[in-house]
Amino acid sequence: MPRPRETLSSSASLSDDTLPPKVFRSLAELIEEEIGIRLPESKKTLVESRLRRRLRPLGLQNLKEYASQYLETDLLYVEFPDLINALTTNKTDFFREKSHFDLLSEKVIPSFLHEGMGRLRPLRIWSVACSIGAEPYTLAMVLAEHARLTPGFQYTIRGFDIDSEALFKARRAIYDLNYLDPIPETLRSRYLLRARAANNHTFRIAPELRRKVQFFPLNVLTPEWPDEETADIIFCRNVLIYFNRPKQQRALEGLCARLRSGGVLFVGHSESLQGLTLPVRPFASAAYQRL
Ligand SMILES: C[S@@+](CC[C@H](N)C(=O)[O-])C[C@H]1O[C@@H](n2cnc3c(N)ncnc32)[C@H](O)[C@@H]1O
Repeated sequence: MPRPRETLSSSASLSDDTLPPKVFRSLAELIEEEIGIRLPESKKTLVESRLRRRLRPLGLQNLKEYASQYLETDLLYVEFPDLINALTTNKTDFFREKSHFDLLSEKVIPSFLHEGMGRLRPLRIWSVACSIGAEPYTLAMVLAEHARLTPGFQYTIRGFDIDSEALFKARRAIYDLNYLDPIPETLRSRYLLRARAANNHTFRIAPELRRKVQFFPLNVLTPEWPDEETADIIFCRNVLIYFNRPKQQRALEGLCARLRSGGVLFVGHSESLQGLTLPVRPFASAAYQRL
């Protein structure tokens, strides 16, 4: 757990609803140290607008009060999980960066099946930094389609994230209809439940798919895994962009240690492993095979 910084102090010259520059700098340092996310000066306004959502639940008037009562005191320990939830970016989609799911379906799963994986024992797939669950449930749909066509095919999926609110939404598996578009029609009819009431604009992942996915809290920089399981496939996409190089190295080393030899690691298409030293070789675009 983080320790409150002694350097945090408020400034009377600033508007009461902004963070004093020193407080912002200490907060940014703490967040980068603990969870890897970089918050440069240019993000100050964004950070402030995200932290304002904490005012009402805490009964506070403005960010100056938030800083003096929570960021500069021992209450920072208590506030820290909510602080993280407020500062993480959870943007996601079903079938995001679709070529990865095509690769999985057309190349990776068939080659693992050829080795007997998925029949001799369940194929183990992890979605690290899974946000509200769109990525692991996309994986579940792709795997369920293989299971329909391949007798005896078994798989398990795990989703991990540091944001407890995102994990709550992921477990609930209810999504606004805005999320529906990228999901192919045939998969919608097989794996999604539409709300009955006309004024309810949501859908839910079907129970047989929900049962296939387990969610766990995890800080990818200091991972405390739920058990000794290793993965055949790891998706860790669109989180490394928030980290500096040493933290990317640390996060990926931890994942490689849990990826079996021959397993495949997927990162986001805007995330490069160039310059990092990892036991992997390029496999496809933004996909790497564990040595
Ligand atoms: C932009 S979302 C990416 C979601 C999904 N992987 C995708 O590509 O659609 C980034 C996620 O990373 C999570 N995250 C940020 N820092 C993390 C850390 N240190 N450990 C685990 N998850 C983290 C955030 O909570 C957020 O849900």
